[in-house]
Amino acid sequence: MNRVLISLLIGISAAGITLAGPYDIEARPSAAPAMRDGDLKLPADYKSWPVYLLDVQRPELKQIRDIYINPQGLKSSRPFAYGTTMVMELHSVKTSADGKPEPDAYGKLQKQGLSKVFVMGKGAGWGQDVPPEQRTGEWVFAAYDASGNSLGKDMSACRGCHVPLKDTDFVAKVPEFEAARANVR
Ligand code: HEC
Repeated sequence: MNRVLISLLIGISAAGITLAGPYDIEARPSAAPAMRDGDLKLPADYKSWPVYLLDVQRPELKQIRDIYINPQGLKSSRPFAYGTTMVMELHSVKTSADGKPEPDAYGKLQKQGLSKVFVMGKGAGWGQDVPPEQRTGEWVFAAYDASGNSLGKDMSACRGCHVPLKDTDFVAKVPEFEAARANVR
């Protein structure tokens, strides 16, 4: 390479015209950084999102769970679209003096208060920083307390339960979701 060519190349780079290189390739298709566990924010407006499933009864955990899905995710399923976010509220339930859940007149658990909020979201290339056996496709997880404070970055427990759900794109309750969605107009 002669000097004229070298200085020409330097001139081009300085002008902001980047020559294709490894960095360029890595940056595509999206320049946004891949999300990791704990990175997903608690969406401020999730209560106005379509309902995924309400009132999931978990008497053994003394919990009721309400699940929401964002509009981007609503139309997709196994696999869910990039940009899908799901939010699950965990509510504690009323208990009787012996500590057992106290159902209402219809046999349903009764909500006492919000205890935690779990979030999972899917995007291109997300969640690849964990060991292969802990990967849940391109989903990442986050968890918040009832006041919206982050519960940290270690979401390996979440992964432990969601990893086996490969047939439903690592999401639980998918048949129930699909049935409920079919009734939404
Ligand atoms: C003990 C197993 C287990 C663990 C641990 C677990 N999940 Fe789940 N997750 C489930 C099951 C089962 C459901 C379906 C709702 C139900 O039956 O309670 C679910 C549902 C969800 C949903 C609603 C969408 C769906 O898959 O149906 C989100 C969001 C979610 N979990 C996020 C998390 C996050 C975040 C963590 C960790 C902080 C976590 N989960 C830990 C088993 C688990």
